[in-house]
Amino acid sequence: MAPHARVGVAQVRLSSPMSNSQPFDTDELRSSFLDFFVARDHRLVSSSSLVPEHPAAPLFTNAGMVQFLPVFFGEEPPASPRATSSQKCLRVRGKHDDIEIVGRSSSHLTFFEMLGNFSFGDYFKAEAIQYAWEFLTGTLGLDGERLWATVHTSDDEAAGFWQELVGLPGERIQRMGEDNFWEMGATGPCGPSSEIFYDKGPEHGEGGGPAAGGEERYVEIWNLVFMQNNRLENGGLAELPKRNIDTGAGLERILPIVQGKASVFDTDVLRRLIGSAEELAGCVYGRAEEDDVSLRIVADHARAV
Ligand code: GLY
Repeated sequence: MAPHARVGVAQVRLSSPMSNSQPFDTDELRSSFLDFFVARDHRLVSSSSLVPEHPAAPLFTNAGMVQFLPVFFGEEPPASPRATSSQKCLRVRGKHDDIEIVGRSSSHLTFFEMLGNFSFGDYFKAEAIQYAWEFLTGTLGLDGERLWATVHTSDDEAAGFWQELVGLPGERIQRMGEDNFWEMGATGPCGPSSEIFYDKGPEHGEGGGPAAGGEERYVEIWNLVFMQNNRLENGGLAELPKRNIDTGAGLERILPIVQGKASVFDTDVLRRLIGSAEELAGCVYGRAEEDDVSLRIVADHARAV
């Protein structure tokens, strides 16, 4: 595909009505994501093991890109220039460790499924941005006016695409430093990224966008990584053989939005686990905050195990 081409049907405009009451459950959301990218020539790839094999990989699979390490490093050719997957991930230690915040946040989990679309030297920033926008506002029907994007401080190109190709107003495109430079671990593939946030509304915190903080109000739902670098042991950055796309969208984080819920723990799978924990512990969810934190931790950890 030519660089900077417009993709798909949609220049979906921001005036689209909010319609986040669609009856997506976990399975439907996963299928709709994978179907969207298969229809755009991505090869459907199964989730790989939580325990990766590549010597450069972290202890546990922490992102959808881990199974593609040999491709990013140029050790193997890709089976197809584009891929999509729903990857089981575990973040309990290392660079991406959320375990301490689980239960006290409405969006963090140790185990989760990461929805991803990947380009191995094929399309790049423009198409990745447009695909994400089309899926969120077109397929899922999210209100574009609630979406914000962040880009790396140096990335005028990505900021330009958000404005020119998608029509996102400049005031909802914010720039950040290391938060917009995604790295698999202390070493390995990395690159500048553009994150997409959903604004849950003023009842969930102060305004000002994701750069102003407020993780409970502005939920990061998708990270588009422009995977072009390799972090070396000496801390330096090398170029990968190709410019790739690695995206990670949180299945469990998008689910409450399409179900009109405030927390990942209010959605189908996790709420059922909280119900089991309530029965076993003999307490009722929603009565006392410290009990609720414990029930949420039990639900998350039980699912992870
Ligand atoms: N690899 C993209 C992410 O985990 O956010």
